[in-house]
Amino acid sequence: MKLIIVAGARPNFMKVAPLLWEIGRRPGISAQLVHTGQHYDRAMSDLFFEQLAIPRPDFNLGVGSASHAVQTAEVMTRFEPILNDHRPDAVIVVGDVNSTLACALVAVKLGVPVAHVEAGLRSFDRSMPEEINRIVTDAISHWLFVSEPAGVDNLRREGVPEERIHLVGNVMIDTLLAMKPISEQSDILNQLGLVGREYAVLTLHRPANVDQPEILGGIGRAIQEIAQDRPIVFPVHPRTRAALAGPLAGVHLVDPLGYLDFLRLLSQARLVLTDSGGIQEETTMLGVSCLTLRENTERPVTIDQGTNQLVGRDTGKILAAARMVLASPPPATPPQVKFWDGKAACRILDKLMESDT
Ligand code: UD1
Repeated sequence: MKLIIVAGARPNFMKVAPLLWEIGRRPGISAQLVHTGQHYDRAMSDLFFEQLAIPRPDFNLGVGSASHAVQTAEVMTRFEPILNDHRPDAVIVVGDVNSTLACALVAVKLGVPVAHVEAGLRSFDRSMPEEINRIVTDAISHWLFVSEPAGVDNLRREGVPEERIHLVGNVMIDTLLAMKPISEQSDILNQLGLVGREYAVLTLHRPANVDQPEILGGIGRAIQEIAQDRPIVFPVHPRTRAALAGPLAGVHLVDPLGYLDFLRLLSQARLVLTDSGGIQEETTMLGVSCLTLRENTERPVTIDQGTNQLVGRDTGKILAAARMVLASPPPATPPQVKFWDGKAACRILDKLMESDT
């Protein structure tokens, strides 16, 4: 069986890694990797390839940054000839970025079936570009590989035939479990002068949070208040760097971190504040309290497990929630999420190879 796997932006790299590791272990199946180049900085891309032992991409489309329409169109235009030349048995796309949608569209139109990894997640907020990418990608994919039970319910509600829906677990958790022992050798806490369980971590990059100065300012006020009694480290996404008016008092701004340093930083944090999707899941797996600076989440299992809370973007609400979390004991139990066990990639490959026979 011949596959093409697509990765484009930072949150994709930790999702394709375990699929590529697993393909490397199996005879009878091969994959070519396409990097669309949606993310291109060393810190947002190359470092992840090195640390996660992802082979060099077979194709790099080099699309870079642009408006949504241009970025999506560029990926489509550059991906089509590759697919025509190589004609794989299936294309695997992961997550919900513009590259996911673009490559899925190209593949189905050329009659190549698509497998969507991380299917079925819904925030029910169509102002999020990722929500549109999820809905469209799921509607046209042949295999829908779902990471948490709510995704199965969402797809059933949308009328997707049962035989396309496969609850397989979370490939990002495969990567986390594989890399955690290695991340323990990271020296990042020393480098930043931090003591385990004493500090908070902040990440922000969603357009809804960083593109409007009043909203970013309101979040910033809450963060500076929390920073008065607790060190806060803020690895700053390029989008956010461009939007920030200046430094945040008491907050340690650093460049985006590689996977291993970031995993170490998360695992030892007392509190994480974020608007990321993946970090909600990672903190759940690590048993670290997370405040999500959004009004909704497409990953409700993280709330059910008790590690994550939705607090929105209001200064007072963020502060009140942070104080409450810091005054309570840290989450105690390891999560109980079906198939978050390090074997999601294995289940996906089993299913794909079964349909090839
Ligand atoms: C994209 C994804 C989002 C994902 C996020 C993770 C879409 C619609 N959005 O958002 O789902 O959560 O990645 O990071 O696909 N930039 C750099 N260097 C890079 C990459 C980006 O400087 O390596 C800059 C770009 O020039 C641009 C900004 O960051 O100004 C945003 O990049 P873009 O790819 O448009 O979207 P993200 O906000 O990163």
